[in-house]
Amino acid sequence: MHALTRRHVLLGGLGVATTAALTACASGEGASSTSTRAFGSPSPVSPAAGQKVVEKSLTARPVTLDLGGRTVSTWAYGDAAPGPLVRATAGDLLRVTLDNQLPTDTSIHWHGIRLRNAADGVPGQTQDPIAAGSRYVYEFTAPDPGTYFFHPHVGVQLDRGLYAPMVIDDPDEPGRYDAEWILVLDDWIDGTGTSPDEVLKKLVADGGPANGPMGGMDHGSMGHMGADPWGDAGDVTYPLFLINGRPPTDPEVLRAKPGQRVRLRIISAASDTIFTVALGGHRMSVTHTDGWPVEATDVDALYIGMGERYDAIVTLKDGVFPLVARPFGKTSGGQAMALVRTGSGAAPGAGTSPDELTGQVLIGSELQPAALAKLPPREPDAEAQLTLNGSMKPYRWGINGAPFGENEPLTVKAGQRLRINATNMTMMTHPLHLHGHTFALPSGLRKDTVLMAPMQSFAIDLDADNAGDWMIHCHNIYHAEVGMMIALNYVS
Ligand code: C2O
Ligand code: CU
Repeated sequence: MHALTRRHVLLGGLGVATTAALTACASGEGASSTSTRAFGSPSPVSPAAGQKVVEKSLTARPVTLDLGGRTVSTWAYGDAAPGPLVRATAGDLLRVTLDNQLPTDTSIHWHGIRLRNAADGVPGQTQDPIAAGSRYVYEFTAPDPGTYFFHPHVGVQLDRGLYAPMVIDDPDEPGRYDAEWILVLDDWIDGTGTSPDEVLKKLVADGGPANGPMGGMDHGSMGHMGADPWGDAGDVTYPLFLINGRPPTDPEVLRAKPGQRVRLRIISAASDTIFTVALGGHRMSVTHTDGWPVEATDVDALYIGMGERYDAIVTLKDGVFPLVARPFGKTSGGQAMALVRTGSGAAPGAGTSPDELTGQVLIGSELQPAALAKLPPREPDAEAQLTLNGSMKPYRWGINGAPFGENEPLTVKAGQRLRINATNMTMMTHPLHLHGHTFALPSGLRKDTVLMAPMQSFAIDLDADNAGDWMIHCHNIYHAEVGMMIALNYVS
């Protein structure tokens, strides 16, 4: 039995005990932070001959941020959210020291990086939690170029200010652009009279007592069903949506010259919000998703789920343009916005609504992989079933009929091609995320996070080339925290 004992105990009793247990778990420690499985200090890694070492220090700590005149207390890496960019070239050895000045345990997960298991940042599965007041050194090689980010893998800490972008450069990058802008999207609630831990507690309490087996066909609120692709897209009512830590009333201004080609690296660090992203007056040529190249596709806008990344090239016109991230299916809290300025003109207001938002909007899983990025076809050696279950009332989310800790880990043998038949048997959309690997959709498109609409199924294939115990989970952090996770363990 996997030693994620506290989680097991917490979610072990379905029935009314679950609410109390989740309340305890929402106290800030996170269910994954206490485990009987001990890992000790990480063993140091030396660079291979000729390997460059990129060193970085991060401090996780309580901070006060000014969000357009609204002061919030939160936790961040350094003194801002997003935290500092971590950047290296594919093949480099990263050595990142985290100084935990938070009042509680934490960890860092390097989202999307195909790294060694010991550096994956999952307390209870790959390391001990990093206790308050202590330091931890992450050492790993980042093998694949692309756009990534990092965040804690403890409780719902991701929904505070604890997130930052990460870019792995391609040594062979043709560089056919003049500038690069990193855009980190977020849904914000921390310090606005509540905290993510309280939000979770309330979701569980409002969902009422859990009873009966986890079937997962609760229709909950189906208010958005219809022509839209995502059905019920979120549970939490956020007061603010941010791009690069700024609200639309005090937006970041991105400057360039008309005619310049800019590479956008769009990262969603949101916890419970799918965004539609558009640059007013422009079409975008989408070139990568989750780091992997795709056949360049021109669109007016794109959907981005929690944990997904998209790179796109835009050729800038002359003037001032809103870059908008509109929360899907949410009617309060406004939207996120940055401004692109290449010339003179008045700035659009915080509520501006570019036509592109209702134009041709990309669903990322429909992209076609670039020839070189395509997972080569191969018959699977093994198959596994992964069914997303759950409901809003009671607020219970799980995989394969049970919350994490009660569901049986998926297993794979090194060298196998594994096909995971993933099905979403709920009336919500979930971004399904796999650690330590990328998977391929039937088209060969490589992803590590994919939006699964209500009742949607995907056969996702992966090559078992990175031994260890890994996580697969919904990247709605509230869903993950109440149990919408499962382990993928290598066995011999
Ligand atoms: Cu960003 Cu386990 O994930
Ligand atoms: Cu989910």
